[in-house]
Amino acid sequence: MCGIVGYIGKRDVAPLLLEGLQRLEYRGYDSAGIAIHANGPGRAGGLRTAKAKGRVRELEERVPARFNGTTGIAHTRWATHGAPSDENAHPHQDAEGRVAVVHNGIIDNASELRARLTAEGVVFTSETDTEVLAHLIGRSTAGSLEERVREALRLVEGTYGIAVLHADFTDRIVVARNGSPVVLGIGEHEMFVASDVAALVSHTRQVITLDDGEMATLKADDYRTYTTEGSRTTASPTTVEWEAESYDMAGHDTYMHKEITEQADAVDRVLRGRIDDRFATVHLGGLNLDAREARSVRRVKILGCGSAYHAGLIGAQLVEELARIPADAEPASEFRYRNAVVDPDTLYIAVSQSGETYDTLAAVQELKRKGARVLGVVNVVGSAIARETDGGVYVHAGPEICVVSTKCFTNTAVAFALLALHLGRIRDLSVADGKRIISGLRRLPEQIGEIMKLEPEIRKVAAEYAEAKSMMFVGRVRGYPVALEASLKLKEISYIHAEAYPASELKHGPLALIEPAVPTVAVLPEDELIDKNRATLEEIKARSGRILAVAHGEQEQADHTIVVPRNEVELDPILMGIPLQLLAYHTALALGRDIDKPRNLAKSVTVE
Ligand code: F6R
Repeated sequence: MCGIVGYIGKRDVAPLLLEGLQRLEYRGYDSAGIAIHANGPGRAGGLRTAKAKGRVRELEERVPARFNGTTGIAHTRWATHGAPSDENAHPHQDAEGRVAVVHNGIIDNASELRARLTAEGVVFTSETDTEVLAHLIGRSTAGSLEERVREALRLVEGTYGIAVLHADFTDRIVVARNGSPVVLGIGEHEMFVASDVAALVSHTRQVITLDDGEMATLKADDYRTYTTEGSRTTASPTTVEWEAESYDMAGHDTYMHKEITEQADAVDRVLRGRIDDRFATVHLGGLNLDAREARSVRRVKILGCGSAYHAGLIGAQLVEELARIPADAEPASEFRYRNAVVDPDTLYIAVSQSGETYDTLAAVQELKRKGARVLGVVNVVGSAIARETDGGVYVHAGPEICVVSTKCFTNTAVAFALLALHLGRIRDLSVADGKRIISGLRRLPEQIGEIMKLEPEIRKVAAEYAEAKSMMFVGRVRGYPVALEASLKLKEISYIHAEAYPASELKHGPLALIEPAVPTVAVLPEDELIDKNRATLEEIKARSGRILAVAHGEQEQADHTIVVPRNEVELDPILMGIPLQLLAYHTALALGRDIDKPRNLAKSVTVE
């Protein structure tokens, strides 16, 4: 989603903010802008801004020479209200140009407030919801900037992460959070604010994540946090888990490629320190679910969006297979809008890489309001979903910068295998099966390494399939979530239309689409359904369909088979997703797509 970055200190602010924006560009990138206190040498003061439609490099070209100052805020935008344009780019200002606001989120009652302000004579210069905030702050006559911001926020409904500059208060940046992430970076005689640690971690690893309903005042040597009602809060900085280098491209051409190739290490991390060989189980420290509670769980319901939901589908199958608890997964974005029956014997699990996805967070909040027990399977430590849930499992995939999820999808599936094993061993999974799964989990990193060696072969296959007008992905039971995820990956970055179906459903309709220009990717774990799957391949062949199989051995019906190592049947889907990430990657590359910045998409969807 949109990105915010701000700085107050002694350094020249524009280069710092532009660097921060580059690091945030992956969150949203249809326009960018910057505002500074023009208190550089020889300047009388006031605010200066520069904005540009397009990427951050367009903004860099717009920033005038001698744009000097030591305090400023900046933004990369992913349009919600108003098309991408210079006018709609943030920061937004009040009529006098004395206030500058950058904002992530959506002001729900913006039209109402806009109408009211227009009737009072305010002339708007953009179509955004954010501009109302700038005018409201600018028109306030309260004594302090904090109170002016507070007054404005009292009038708005919706979600926000904001940073505010005011020409009359040159010593501070005021920030506030409600539903959109805001992180403070605490430095030596300098302070940062950002919507994501990625923007500030190269300067400081000491951070404070604001809670919803919290505000902060940043000064060069000092910070203060308080509620939107004005009462002080006590927040101590924590150290970011990852070194600044983890946020770099590390010699790869894209973050996606870097993140795909990191998966053996990432899986090693999610397993580390958790396996208990003696009792053939795992220890999940943050679960907050004792054995008695685990035994009383009657159902498991997993909620997430996009790839997180797909990982949840794998998770539900693992929970059913290993723990024999009825389990299913549902998109959190749907769940939150229906009046779902919330059952006290159901264990709800929210899945999210960022831990900030608004739809998933809203589902968690609704469940909590209704008294449900909700766990999180989350990557970003200390994120909103991690904090709102009663406990959970961190997936330890490391920073995932690319818009499309790869290593986090895999690590989430592995985290679910750990959770399912833990629940299974508390219930009736045998020691022998526990040991079998543990040994399979331990083999995963090495097998992922073997899959990486298939990259040259996958690149060649991708060049052939890049011509396809549409692609079908199929899998039966264990293979189906993998097919769903692989189809999502392909469409997100290659823009080739792709559909995923359970292999069993093909003959109930989608078979009509099969023709040589619509190849099928078939996910074929060597389980009890392999013969049924082969029969599906025959049906596709009989309609002159081309087939790319992902299997544990050559498939004679397929035009090409990507052979992946065999693990335990329950864990095979985890491995089978990886070559298909590479397939999507190389298809997009062959088509010349901008892989890390797919059109219309942004990482971490923090709006409704
Ligand atoms: C797809 C992708 C998205 C996210 C989804 C949820 O490649 O990355 O579908 O999985 O927006 O995001 P998180 O996991 O941050 O909640």
